[in-house]
Amino acid sequence: MKPVKIGVIGLGNVGTGTLTILTENARNLAEKLGFPLEVAAICSPRVHTRELPALPGVLKTTEWREVVNHPDVEVVAELVGGTGTAREIVDAAIAAGKSVVTANKEMLALSGVELWQAAASAGVSLAMEASVAGGIPIHTVLRDGISGDRIDTLFGILNGTCNYILTEIEQKGAAFGDVLAEAQRLGYAEADPTADVDGFDARSKLAILAGLAFGQRVLPAQIFTEGIRRVTPLDFAYAHTLKHTIRLICAARRTPTGLLLSVRPSLIPQSTIMAGVTGAYNAVWVKGHYGQDTFYYGRGAGAQPTGVAVVSDLVRVARELRYGHPGRLSPFAHGTLTGAEPLPIEQLKSSYYLRFRVKDAPGIIAKLAGILAGKGISIDAVLQLPNEPKDDLPFVITVEPAEEGAIRAAVAEMAALDFVIEPPLALPMEKGL
Ligand SMILES: NC(=O)c1ccc[n+]([C@@H]2O[C@H](COP(=O)([O-])OP(=O)(O)OC[C@H]3O[C@@H](n4cnc5c(N)ncnc54)[C@H](OP(=O)(O)O)[C@@H]3O)[C@@H](O)[C@H]2O)c1
Repeated sequence: MKPVKIGVIGLGNVGTGTLTILTENARNLAEKLGFPLEVAAICSPRVHTRELPALPGVLKTTEWREVVNHPDVEVVAELVGGTGTAREIVDAAIAAGKSVVTANKEMLALSGVELWQAAASAGVSLAMEASVAGGIPIHTVLRDGISGDRIDTLFGILNGTCNYILTEIEQKGAAFGDVLAEAQRLGYAEADPTADVDGFDARSKLAILAGLAFGQRVLPAQIFTEGIRRVTPLDFAYAHTLKHTIRLICAARRTPTGLLLSVRPSLIPQSTIMAGVTGAYNAVWVKGHYGQDTFYYGRGAGAQPTGVAVVSDLVRVARELRYGHPGRLSPFAHGTLTGAEPLPIEQLKSSYYLRFRVKDAPGIIAKLAGILAGKGISIDAVLQLPNEPKDDLPFVITVEPAEEGAIRAAVAEMAALDFVIEPPLALPMEKGL
C-alpha cells in the first residue's frame, strides 16, 4: 500500500522527538500500519542549522507554506506552538484538504471547536493527543477506552514544572524562589515561568479535558485558577502532620447544576495514589459512574514521550486515510460541545486548610474562630509547630466542609485584622480522590 507522507512544522523539543521516532521506529510503524509513514518535508526558521536525524530526500524549508502546499504531504504536524503562526498553519492545512496533528494546548483550548468543525467540513482529521499530559494517552482513554462510561469527576496533575517544584519544596525544604531558579537552570522551567507556576498551562489542558470528558466547551478564562507561588516548606510540614501532601490539582466535577472546575494547589491524602506522583510526572484520575476509578500516569512532557503521542496520532490519521473511516472521529469525543458556563467556584463544598502568619498576641484564635463561626464554618483542628518566631508566627486551622464562598468571605475579613501579616492561605483538602 502507498506510504502516507507527512510534513513536520516546528522542530523544537516535540518536533525533533517526533522526527527521531518516525525515523528510528519506521519499520515497526510500517509493520503496524501495513504501509510506511514517511516524512516528506520539514520546516523551522533554523532548519538548516538544527541538529536533526538524517533525512535524505526530505524537503527542508524555512517557509511553512511550502510544507502545507507540498503535493505529497497528506498530514501536517503543527509543532510550533502558540496561537499566531500555528493557527495560520492549521487553517491553511485544513483549507488545502490535509489532515492535522497538533500538540498545541493553547490553540486547542481557545479554538479547538472551530478547528474541528472546519476539519470535519473539509473531510480531514484533526488529532491532538499530545496537547494534554504529553506521554499519557488520556485523549484516547476518554474518546475510546472509557467512552462507554459517564464521567463524574476528573482530577489531574497536568503541569510537570509545578509538580517538580512542589516535590522539591517538599523533599528539600527549599523556598519556592530557590527551587524555581534551580528548575530554570536545569531547563525544567521556562525563563518566564508564569504560564506554568501561575496555573495557565494547566488550565488550558483542563479546558480541553472538560470537552472530552463532559462534552462541554469551557474556555480557559472560565476556570478558577491559582498558582503555586504561595506554597512554602512550612505548608508541607503542616500538610504532613495532617497526613496529606500538596499538589497543583486540576479538578473537574459534574454536579446536578453544572461543572465545577478549578486549577489550584490542594491538600491530598498521602494514602492516595495521586500523592505518589512526584517530579515532572503527570497523572489523571478519572471517576466514571459505571466503571468507577481509573488512573493514568506518565511523563507529561519531553521530546520523546510527547513525540510518541504525536506519532501515535499520525498512525491513527494515516490508518484513516488508507483504510477509510465512516466520518472523521471528533477529537473531543463528542460530536458537538455544549457551551454552558461552569459554576462559580464559590459553590464548591470542601474541607479547607487555612494557614496564617500573625504577630502573636492574646485572643488571636478566639477572634479568628469568631469570624469562622459568623460564616457558619466549623473548626476541625488548630495546629502550631513549636519554636516559631512570635513576631511572625505561622499556624494552621483546618475546617469542616464548607462552601468556598463562605471561606472567601472569612479570609477577606481575617486579612484585614491588624495582627495578620499576610492574607491567610486557603487551600481545599481534596477528600474525593
Ligand atoms: N515541550 C514539551 O514537552 C511539550 C509537551 C506537550 C505539548 N507541547 C506543545 O508542543 C508544541 C511545541 O513545543 P516545543 O516544546 O517543541 O517548542 P519549541 O522547542 O519552542 O519548538 C518550537 C519550534 O517551532 C519553530 N518555529 C517557530 N516559529 C516558526 C515558524 N514561523 N515557522 C515554522 N517553525 C517555527 C521553532 O523554530 P527554530 O527551530 O528555528 O527554533 C522551533 O523549532 C507547543 O504547542 C507545546 O505547547 C510541548
